Formats: sequence, structure tokens, C-alpha cells
Amino acid sequence: MLSILNISHLYKQGDNTLSIFNNCSLNIHAGQTVALVGNSGAGKTTLLQLVGLLEKLQTGDIVVQGKSTKAMSDEERTILRRHTYGFVYQFHHLLPEFSALENVMLPQLIAGIDNKIAKNKAIELLETLGLSHRLEHRPKQLSGGEQQRVAIARALANNPKILLADEPTGNLDPTTSSEVFQMLVKQVKSQGIAAIIATHNHSLANSMDRFVELQNGTLIEK
Ligand SMILES: Nc1ncnc2c1ncn2[C@@H]1O[C@H](COP(=O)(O)OP(=O)(O)O)[C@@H](O)[C@H]1O
Ligand SMILES: [Mg+2]
Repeated sequence: MLSILNISHLYKQGDNTLSIFNNCSLNIHAGQTVALVGNSGAGKTTLLQLVGLLEKLQTGDIVVQGKSTKAMSDEERTILRRHTYGFVYQFHHLLPEFSALENVMLPQLIAGIDNKIAKNKAIELLETLGLSHRLEHRPKQLSGGEQQRVAIARALANNPKILLADEPTGNLDPTTSSEVFQMLVKQVKSQGIAAIIATHNHSLANSMDRFVELQNGTLIEK
């Protein structure tokens, strides 16, 4: 489903260059959940940005459903991202002026899906995530855990094949974090999505299929 092939990445900081990855590879199958752990600054966010085709590759390739992405134009990458990926971040990034329901409909409408179909899909997803009583609420009328559940529903709205989450529950209290995390993993598994979830929480990481640590520019499978 998703292959990271021999990627290396350097950041220039003034006269210095900072090597973030050194020849990293990882193969992920459909329905597999991969925990990405590593100290702050290890490069987890950078890796997710590269895998998510949001940042240009310097060396190596990201292969999505058998297709190489390294030579794709920005437009081709945008289309692939829109149809194949879902993203969840540490902060929900919901649109404040829109309801929970509208926030989940929006990516579908952008992808050209009919309004009624988008609405039904959004209702179904929000119900699955336990939010059927919060459809018309704006983000600021929701708790932190509810906001992240809406963000998860939004990430799943276009039936992604790949889900990338960057410390999706890092901003929540431990109990809520664990509940929301388990909901995310359950959805990903039941829909056969390949997922990489960056987290600092080792017990949450251990509940996933694979545990991969980013250390000194190398991916180490534990
Ligand atoms: N655009 C950038 N330019 C230069 N250095 C960067 C840039 N983005 C991130 N870095 C550096 O790369 C390293 C990895 O960052 P990041 O991927 O955010 O790590 P993590 O998510 O694991 O905390 C950090 O040392 C950070 O300062
Ligand atoms: Mg980060």
C-alpha cells in the first residue's frame, strides 16, 4: 500500500546542514497501524510531511499503491493526496465558523461529491465516533476530545487508503487521549486503512500493530 524507499533528508540551518533521515525505508500494508515514536526533534513531523507529499523529497521515493511519487508534479501530488490520504494533527484545525457536520462535509464537497451524499456520510462518521448529538455544534462549543473526534471524522470522510496522524491526542488529558486514540485505531482497522501515527505515548504505541522508533536519522522497528 505504502512504501518509504531509501529516503534521506537534510535541512540547511545557516552554514550547517542537519541530517534528519539517513536512508530510511519502511513498507506498510493495507489495514496496518504503525506507531512512530521518537524524541521531540527526531523528525517525526518531517517524515509525515514527506510521506504525505506535503514536502518535496530530496532522496529516495514514496511509493503509493505501487506508484512512484518522486517525479510527480505538484498538481499530481495534490490530486493523489486528496483522493488517497487523510490527515490528523495535534491541533484540530477545524474551521471555526462551520458546524461539526459542515467540517466533515467540506473535504467531500471539495472532492466534488454531491451535497446530500456528503451530508449522509458525515452524519454516519460522526455517529460512529459518538457525536450524533453534536452535529450542529461549532468547534469552540466542543470539548478537546470531541474536537479531535470531528477532526478524525473529517480525515476519514473521503475514504482514504492512508491515514497520517501527528500526535493526534497529544493535546488531551490521559483518559480522553486513550479513548480518542482507540477510536481512531478502530476506525482505521475496520476500514482497512494503512496508518502511521506519531505519538509520545508508549502504551498507546504498543496497542498498534507495529512500533517504529525514529532515532538518529534511522527507523528502528521494535
Ligand atoms: N523547515 C525547516 N528548516 C530547518 N530545520 C527544520 C525545519 N523543519 C524542522 N527542522 C528541524 O528538523 C528537526 C526535526 O523536526 P521535526 O520533524 O519537527 O521533529 P519531531 O516532529 O520529531 O519533533 C528539528 O531539529 C527541527 O528543528
Ligand atoms: Mg512533531
